[in-house]
Amino acid sequence: MSASWTALLALPLLAAAAPVAEDPCAAIAGQLYAPPADVQACLKSFPFNETLRQNVLTNVARVFDFFTFENYYLDSPPPFEEDTVDIRAELDRMNTTDYETDYDFNWDLFLFATQLNDGHTRWYPDCYTSYQNLLPTPIVALSADGESDPEIYVSPDSVEFISLLGSNYTSYYDSIGFDWKRLAGAKVTSIEDQDPWDYVDYLASTISGNYLDHGVRVNSVFTSYRISGIDYSQRFGDFAGPTGVALTSVKMSVIPANTGVEETVDVPYYSSFVGNAFTDSASFWANNCAATDATNGQDYKDASFKAAGNMRKSHMAKGEIVDKSNSTAVGLPEKYYPNLTLADGSTGIFKNYILEDGITGVMYVGSFSNDFIQFQRDTAAAVKQFKSAGVTRLLIDLTNNGGGYVCLGQFLHNYLAGAGISYNPGFVSSMRAGELAQKIVANDIKLGLTSSDTFYAPDNWAFISNDTVMPSTYDYMDPTEPLVINGVEDPTSQRFYDTCASSYYVDIPAEPPFALDQVAIVNNGNCASTCAMFSALMFEHYDTKVATFGGGTGHIEYKGMAGNQVLEWADLASEIKTADLENDPLAPPDLLISGNMRVNWRTAWSWLDEDLPIAYRAEPPQVRLQYTNETYISPQKLWEFAASKVF
Ligand SMILES: *[C@@H]1O[C@H](CO)[C@@H](O)[C@H](O)[C@H]1NC(C)=O
Ligand SMILES: *[C@@H]1O[C@H](CO)[C@@H](O)[C@H](O)[C@H]1NC(C)=O
Ligand SMILES: *[C@@H]1O[C@H](CO)[C@@H](O)[C@H](O)[C@H]1NC(C)=O
Ligand SMILES: *[C@@H]1O[C@H](CO)[C@@H](O)[C@H](O)[C@H]1NC(C)=O
Ligand SMILES: *[C@@H]1O[C@H](CO)[C@@H](O)[C@H](O)[C@H]1NC(C)=O
Ligand SMILES: *[C@@H]1O[C@H](CO)[C@@H](O)[C@H](O)[C@H]1NC(C)=O
Ligand SMILES: *[C@@H]1O[C@H](CO)[C@@H](O)[C@H](O)[C@H]1NC(C)=O
Repeated sequence: MSASWTALLALPLLAAAAPVAEDPCAAIAGQLYAPPADVQACLKSFPFNETLRQNVLTNVARVFDFFTFENYYLDSPPPFEEDTVDIRAELDRMNTTDYETDYDFNWDLFLFATQLNDGHTRWYPDCYTSYQNLLPTPIVALSADGESDPEIYVSPDSVEFISLLGSNYTSYYDSIGFDWKRLAGAKVTSIEDQDPWDYVDYLASTISGNYLDHGVRVNSVFTSYRISGIDYSQRFGDFAGPTGVALTSVKMSVIPANTGVEETVDVPYYSSFVGNAFTDSASFWANNCAATDATNGQDYKDASFKAAGNMRKSHMAKGEIVDKSNSTAVGLPEKYYPNLTLADGSTGIFKNYILEDGITGVMYVGSFSNDFIQFQRDTAAAVKQFKSAGVTRLLIDLTNNGGGYVCLGQFLHNYLAGAGISYNPGFVSSMRAGELAQKIVANDIKLGLTSSDTFYAPDNWAFISNDTVMPSTYDYMDPTEPLVINGVEDPTSQRFYDTCASSYYVDIPAEPPFALDQVAIVNNGNCASTCAMFSALMFEHYDTKVATFGGGTGHIEYKGMAGNQVLEWADLASEIKTADLENDPLAPPDLLISGNMRVNWRTAWSWLDEDLPIAYRAEPPQVRLQYTNETYISPQKLWEFAASKVF
């Protein structure tokens, strides 16, 4: 967006904010952290703008036309009843609500989309996700023995963990005389005057999002280990590290370990800046809020785009989460790293080990989104070393795996199942066949586009009758297929397979490398998309045992969000533009602001019930475990405990 546009917008805004002496954004500019009240003053300094609301809501409403799960929301089946909402009525409500500020509108939309509890289908207004609140007292739910009911504590490792943020963060608490260190390990007796579990449930219902299952979202609230980039990391959890600056502090009653006496404290949040640098309101808007060249996609046919050496973002299907909290990733305190020697194939996203028993190989697969080829090579390298060392059973840790390339999930499943499988290694899939979607496929064919240009091009997919790739002239939306969801007719494309086998870079072993009943999965349910699809493939075909930790005392599912392929708004916009349909009356308008309405664009259908998306197939884990003070942050101790329970 041009600088002149920004100036036009910003100047009247500043003039309108009459008696404020100082620019509230200038007051926090250049700081890595700021008190949330000061950040709120900046974010709420941009007045509500009807033009922007109409632009955003029109975009969002038309993107929802592509959302494969829309009609499930009218009456979500058990145990997902919480995910019932009339999406169109909510959009109408937001169209008629009086908002004071641009923030208020966008945050309402952000929360509405978050509460769909589908990480594929979310609204991210970059302006207002540019800060992340952080609390020095992350919480965990710990059980005495790993199986009995857990209770809530301030994370016992919080001194080591929070100290990793450095003095830029901790000096704030020194300056206000708040001693957070003594709260480490304290038992939590209430939060905001509620039973702590009620407050955790409230957060799981309102701000965690991403997962249809409530128990999985309960785990999102707590702090937990993960891999960020290729390193061990500790996630704050949505209590201690929520996106945005909605709260300034939280009231907790706790019993510190060293006093044994209950006390009530107001713990202040301190916000981490994760946006683009700015100096004042005008530059905050220009650098964080105004649409950029990347916001609204690209016509990939465009000659000048190609001439400038640009390439299509990616032609490989992805199914993954956007975890904004990854922006403030700090390491796992090193003393909790496994003390075992890393096995082969561990230089990237995998952390592979052989446990002290000598027979259990552990693969911690932190993500499916890293290096596409290295993922495959690392799989082969780890399995090779495990086999030659006499490993007979495999434990795959998927804790906080946010998903990634659809084909890597299929690859890993195929690698473990062997080349002899008699079925397609993925799922039967389909997409919604609304009017605009049908036009896109027809135009792709007319324009001679292929899988290297667009995702709608027919040669991205294979016929389910014979698993051969569709000719690029085959219109899989003509005719559409009937589908009725919750009584609503919702025509879809014909069903098809992915064509992943053509993207394997390493050979699939002829036989399964490990007896398939000696392969088990351990996770915390925060297993997104490709991760959930991989888990479901293993479960549906081989009854693979999944041990799921945590989730409080209520129900939990073994897998997290199980959509299929996600399209970011920019991806969908590119599909529309490349098909020459950007001026179609059904096309979402380009966003005037920097934001992303991403959407679950395809459905993966269960092998066990062809009428049910795997996302809505309820299945608790075969093994339900709880975290202890030893296992919650120490992956090796967790694997040792899990191995004793699943094999
Ligand atoms: C509202 O936003 C539009 C589009 O960006 C802009 O042209 C207009 O000046 C804004 N209105 C006000 C009052 O700032
Ligand atoms: C919002 O409501 C107005 C008035 O009914 C209507 O003209 C407009 O199209 C609606 N906007 C959206 C995005 O639905
Ligand atoms: C963990 O809790 C047990 C009691 O449940 C206690 O005996 C032990 O010292 C604790 N360990 C750590 C590392 O805090
Ligand atoms: C504080 O932040 C500054 C600016 O990013 C950085 O250079 C410095 O190393 C940080 N200090 C600590 C102790 O982390
Ligand atoms: C998370 O952050 C790390 C470190 O900045 C980065 O390497 C990685 O790609 C990020 N992962 C995701 C899923 O955004
Ligand atoms: C595969 O099946 C499709 C439709 O069922 C058919 O049109 C196509 O010719 C078949 N291809 C091969 C190679 O058998
Ligand atoms: C490594 O960690 C395990 C617990 O996971 C512990 O039993 C063992 O003593 C540790 N070994 C060394 C050498 O520290």
